[in-house]
Amino acid sequence: MEDRIEELRERREEALKGGGEERIERQHEKGKMTARERIDYFLDDGTFTEFDQFRTHRNHKFGMEEKQVYGDGVVTGYGEVDGRKVFVFAHDFTVFGGSLGEVFAEKVTKVMDKATQVGAPVVGLNDSAGARIQEGVDALGGYAEIFRRNQEASGVVPQISAIMGPCAGGAVYSPAMTDFTFMVKDTSHMFITGPDVVKTVTGEEVSFEELGGAVTHASTSGVAHFAEESEEDALDDIRRLLSYLPQNNVEDPPRVEPWDDPERADESLNSVVPDQPRKPYDMHDVLESVVDEGSFFEVQSEFAKNLVVGFARMDGRSVGVLANQPRVNAGTLDIEASEKGARFIRTCDAFNVPVLTFVDVPGFMPGTDQEHNGIIRHGAKLLYAYCEASVPLLTVITRKAYGGAYDVMASSHVGADVNYAWPTAEIAVMGPEGAVDILYSDELEEADDVEARRQELIDEYREEFANPYTAADRGYIDDVIEPPETRERLISDLEMLQGKREQTPQKKHGNIPI
Ligand code: COA
Repeated sequence: MEDRIEELRERREEALKGGGEERIERQHEKGKMTARERIDYFLDDGTFTEFDQFRTHRNHKFGMEEKQVYGDGVVTGYGEVDGRKVFVFAHDFTVFGGSLGEVFAEKVTKVMDKATQVGAPVVGLNDSAGARIQEGVDALGGYAEIFRRNQEASGVVPQISAIMGPCAGGAVYSPAMTDFTFMVKDTSHMFITGPDVVKTVTGEEVSFEELGGAVTHASTSGVAHFAEESEEDALDDIRRLLSYLPQNNVEDPPRVEPWDDPERADESLNSVVPDQPRKPYDMHDVLESVVDEGSFFEVQSEFAKNLVVGFARMDGRSVGVLANQPRVNAGTLDIEASEKGARFIRTCDAFNVPVLTFVDVPGFMPGTDQEHNGIIRHGAKLLYAYCEASVPLLTVITRKAYGGAYDVMASSHVGADVNYAWPTAEIAVMGPEGAVDILYSDELEEADDVEARRQELIDEYREEFANPYTAADRGYIDDVIEPPETRERLISDLEMLQGKREQTPQKKHGNIPI
């Protein structure tokens, strides 16, 4: 027996070495952790249980039968984050460059299947040279098996991807199908084809970082939700993100012990919105003040900055927040903001996270660029997502809510449960200037002092329409509230909406204009 146990220990020791000291050294020189170091850092201490440590590939081509490494380039299993179960797989770049073959893919799909069956999140730590060339179509098939699981798990358990090295070609599509993608600055890259192929095909010269680095994907393409300074920061933020999410779609997100007074009334909110309607202000000031102190966790902070989205807590409860940002393009909705918002709403809705919406929107962005690139169908995604959402929806109009954008931004008409307006709210078909120019063009042409008359009409219009009281009169707004009351009112409404259940007609699935 002792011999057998000794043999087991030796084999395990070998498995833990991955691709060996030299390659581990090289990994560290690149500023990267190994797969095991990442898992160790990520999970609660001592909670990792590994699957399939002794698996090896079945490939006999290109001399591969001579090259067998326990684990086959991926470390898989489960553990805990803040005491909650999480499944994890981490590519081991020290073994065949973390390239994916048949057995590697089977290990990953096993973890995904288990996570979906037991209802716990899956976190993938990606660092891979892509499809294992020696395995040909078996490697390609392996990717597709993973893609199919990504779709099956979508909306059932949270799926989170961290990119911590190369991620190219077909490999990008698994992270792209997950709910959130984290990248690490300088050491991670995602692209369909690398700089060399780009140069050959299009003649463009572009660096790895510029083509597919963390900053590019977090600010330009929107592929990444977070661009992190280090692997440790990425893993810390994944832990934080998980704290806002339930384990699966039939659970509610965990409520933490509240630490902030639910009745806290911040008087400074009375002066956040400037008196001049065209003057910008930072919507973050509103959000930070209303939600539990320090709880706002922004998602995609560098992409489509005209719409702010993120998670927060209200009296310890998890909420998703969407807010127009008057500081960027006056808070207008464009293609990117619409997609960002729609995706975030659907993520919240899938995982039972109520959505708070703060509105200050002058409309959709005009221009040929937006029209020709399909603002109509992209804007429709945002509208669709709000209409479809069955989680509690609570809306606060701080200033402008003009035109179609009023409807789209979680109005009562698209199904919001509670709608408030601040006294500074202007709810109208369009802003006073535009409205006056259309309504009174004939009169203005004949006026003696055009500017004076125009200003008079603008003031009249503002008095008549640019306020919240007509909407309140119709019941489209439930109440006009003083800004400092916002926090207390929303917390009370979230409590009231706890049991919300919505019946929707049976259908296979809707047809969101993607
Ligand atoms: N299949 C099998 N093995 C691969 C591989 C692949 N796709 N890509 C890399 N490897 C192996 C290398 O042979 C090397 O093995 P070794 O440690 O036994 O010498 C190891 O992985 C590390 O690769 P290396 O090229 O030395 O690392 P690097 O950090 O210098 O470069 C890449 C990393 C990813 C940029 C580079 O390996 C590459 O371009 N690989 C091909 C990527 C690709 O085209 N994949 C298929 C498309 S999906």
